[in-house]
Amino acid sequence: MMGAGFHGGMFWRREQKGPTRVSRELLLRVVSQFGPYRKQGALALVVIAFSAGVGLVSPLLIRAIIDQAIPSRDFSLLAVLSLGMVITPAFGGLLGVLQSYLNAQISQRVMFDLRNKLYEHVQGLSLRFFTTVKTGEIMSRLNNDVSGINRVVNETMAQSVMQVLTLLSTIALMVSMEWRLALSSLVMVPLALAAARPVGNRRFDMQHVSQRFQADMTAIMQETLNISGFVLMKSFGREAYERTRFSAKNRELMNIQISVSMLGRWFRMLLQVLEAAGPAVVFLFGGYLVLNGEMSLGTIIAFVALLARLYGPLSQLANTQLEVMGALALFERIFEYLDMKPDITDKPGAAPLPSPVRGRVAFRDVTFEYTPGRPALSHVSFEAEPGQLVALVGPSGAGKTTTTYLIPRFYDVTDGRIEIDGQDVRNVTVASLRDGMGIVTQETYLFNTTIEDNLRYARPDAMHEEIEAACRAARLEDLIAQMPDGLHTVVGERGYRLSGGEKQRLAIARVLLKDPRILILDEATSSLDSQTEALIQAALGPLMEGRTTLAIAHRLSTVLAADKLVVLDQGRLVEMGTHRELLARGGLYAELFEIQFKPQLTEALKAPANGQPTNGPAVPLVASRGAVG
Ligand SMILES: Nc1ncnc2c1ncn2[C@@H]1O[C@H](COP(=O)(O)OP(=O)(O)OP(=O)(O)O)[C@@H](O)[C@H]1O
Ligand SMILES: [Mg+2]
Repeated sequence: MMGAGFHGGMFWRREQKGPTRVSRELLLRVVSQFGPYRKQGALALVVIAFSAGVGLVSPLLIRAIIDQAIPSRDFSLLAVLSLGMVITPAFGGLLGVLQSYLNAQISQRVMFDLRNKLYEHVQGLSLRFFTTVKTGEIMSRLNNDVSGINRVVNETMAQSVMQVLTLLSTIALMVSMEWRLALSSLVMVPLALAAARPVGNRRFDMQHVSQRFQADMTAIMQETLNISGFVLMKSFGREAYERTRFSAKNRELMNIQISVSMLGRWFRMLLQVLEAAGPAVVFLFGGYLVLNGEMSLGTIIAFVALLARLYGPLSQLANTQLEVMGALALFERIFEYLDMKPDITDKPGAAPLPSPVRGRVAFRDVTFEYTPGRPALSHVSFEAEPGQLVALVGPSGAGKTTTTYLIPRFYDVTDGRIEIDGQDVRNVTVASLRDGMGIVTQETYLFNTTIEDNLRYARPDAMHEEIEAACRAARLEDLIAQMPDGLHTVVGERGYRLSGGEKQRLAIARVLLKDPRILILDEATSSLDSQTEALIQAALGPLMEGRTTLAIAHRLSTVLAADKLVVLDQGRLVEMGTHRELLARGGLYAELFEIQFKPQLTEALKAPANGQPTNGPAVPLVASRGAVG
């Protein structure tokens, strides 16, 4: 829209849209963020207008002193006028304090709203968003970009209004005093303003790049300075590489920040020269007018005082324009996120899943593509009756995890449909759908808080007895008894202070507490020692009891206990039946069984000799599950 000469986009590339200019749309949208605070805003404007007016009083007082009080030798008038020169700035100062207060109120509230809005919005986005974006990038927008707005609103937007008002009122007063002198001292103003524009556009671009570098850096920190990334970096000895990568981004950031702060500096120098030249013009031309008897001496002095009020705001205003444009770049980045449409939403008028949930899960000719044209699942149909255990088996990358993601609508099917109790999952509310479902993921995620808090995440209002019962069922009570703080032991970042098996059992206890009708279980692939394996197996027994379970099976016990095995290969359902039936068929499952499950049989047979816990259904080779429903 402006500054056509800077359209090159040499500073930043944007994949989809290309360089964006400050558009009307963007401006309107930014302004609309302030809508809820228009009362405070209006009040702030009134205060600003008063401050601008107050500033005009002093030059008028000066003129009165020189043209009236001194020539008429009226000392009392002189004293009153001088006193006025002290009182007016003091009053102006008070107004300034009030103005700062109002600014802070408005800007902090707008940031508060934006942060909440952003968090809520990003939370509502689907898994697809999180698999395509870097976490650090999100953090950066929530932190850096939103805080950047504060500076702008507080220092810049209000100031620019103040400066415009000061400029206009000063010019008006100058013109009314002596229009010819005013004109001669204002000649340079339009020139200065015109020069500000391209500088502003350039600054806008650079601000954008700078924010991107900042986000990149946050992403590197995020990726390498968390436990998993740290271990990875250390184990592959890539510290130097990461340091170089970080330092390269850091350097780019530094360079661009230096350019940003230097940009417009020449322009400001030009203004400073103008500032000095102004009074010279006034004395020269004004002096000529005084000599000709066309103007009073007081007017010259008042003009010089007014000029100081003119060039000050002018140079700041040019600066303000740059700041505002930089801020618009920040707003633009924030809006970019806010504009992403959540793709998993409730249909208009969607009703909750009818309760009680019976737990019948059906895939009907389901096809799903992560990337268009490359199906991860094709034409998959199967059913899980209430209370049944259905095991998904198949080689790596067959689409097992994908299958489980579709049920709670982490993604929506591309074709076909998934039904729960005969209801298409897309027709019921997402909240009710997920409410009736429990998911134990392949990798256990824990928050860095106490064991109890992690468990309560499933049900904040759980009674203490219920938590203890869940821990007992998940075979956690011995572990907790050993810990110095028991249930109040902090598990560390992502639960790193617990072993893999302990984390899994904690995850099982967590889902037990939620007590869902439908359970989705992605069994961990990592092989555990036989004792831990037995403990987890024992924990899983009560978990599957009386629920429809869809398990991605990596354990022999699971496939043996399953009512039905669904064998996937390259996104297709290739076999379906019980373990016995499929083994007899001699197909893919029989093959997988030989490689994946059979070795566990020999393991399991050895296990009891090692003094396995005998309580509970440990290693239920052929688990006796009370099928319900
Ligand atoms: N977010 C994603 N974007 C694009 N493709 C994906 C995504 N997630 C998975 N895929 C692809 O979809 C296919 C199925 O993946 P899925 O995770 O369902 O396999 P899996 O059967 O669970 O394998 P494993 O036993 O190794 O966990 C794979 O080819 C995988 O590369
Ligand atoms: Mg998987």
